[in-house]
Amino acid sequence: MTRIAHISDVHFGRIERKGVVEALVADVHAEKPDMVAISGDLTQRAYSWQYKAAARFVRSFEMPVLVVPGNHDVWPMWWPGRRVRTPVSRFETVITGELSPLVKLPEAWILGLNSAHGKTVKGGLVTAEQSERVRVAFKGAPDIRVLVVHHPLAPMPHASKSDVAVGGRGLLAAAAECRVQAVLGGHLHVVQNIRSEEGPMLVHAGTATSTRGRGQDKTANTYNIVILDGQSVVVERRDFDGLEYGMVRRETLAVSPNLMRPGIGIGV
Ligand SMILES: [Fe+2]
Ligand SMILES: [Fe+2]
Repeated sequence: MTRIAHISDVHFGRIERKGVVEALVADVHAEKPDMVAISGDLTQRAYSWQYKAAARFVRSFEMPVLVVPGNHDVWPMWWPGRRVRTPVSRFETVITGELSPLVKLPEAWILGLNSAHGKTVKGGLVTAEQSERVRVAFKGAPDIRVLVVHHPLAPMPHASKSDVAVGGRGLLAAAAECRVQAVLGGHLHVVQNIRSEEGPMLVHAGTATSTRGRGQDKTANTYNIVILDGQSVVVERRDFDGLEYGMVRRETLAVSPNLMRPGIGIGV
């Protein structure tokens, strides 16, 4: 069994609730997950001070941390040259130079991919090269395989057309081919857990710390503990109540039979 703390859209620069970051870090440590996956939008406007705060946050965890950028982490509009040519260069300098990180745990391998780019207002993009990265990275992986990508890879409730990453369906097909059981994302600031047509579960966390919540999660600060055992994906939602984070919902999603190794589970 593998337990991942799935944190998204912390948005340093739009954090107003007193003590929320400290409470989040304390709760994650109390939960003792095997790793932390941060699915993008670390900053509000990619300013240096926001990135410095984000770097302190990322480095405050004692367990392995995987982090990918979001659209808010690309250079803002008033640096159009950098935004188009080297959109996440500040992320690479301050957070990590690895834009497709792979964390290998004993029972699970977790791969992160960058969907943020500068030739858009807020949309995402994933490429055929990244699908190939998925195929190569998961060769020889144990049964539990997880992707971390900021933007939704397929249409879903609360996602406008522009929220869905261009090329998302191709990446999802590659993920299904490689028996990826869950894709952890964010961007929408509304909690959603749905099964894609291709099979992998799409687990979208809300905003963990910022005041940018939307829809039914407008006032929520929330993150997930995602528990995978090869046959199910359990998502424990943990919300901030003004003092601390605590579990408010536990949802168990069965892994699609086409994503299980032959001989495991039902229907194979
Ligand atoms: Fe965001
Ligand atoms: Fe975003």
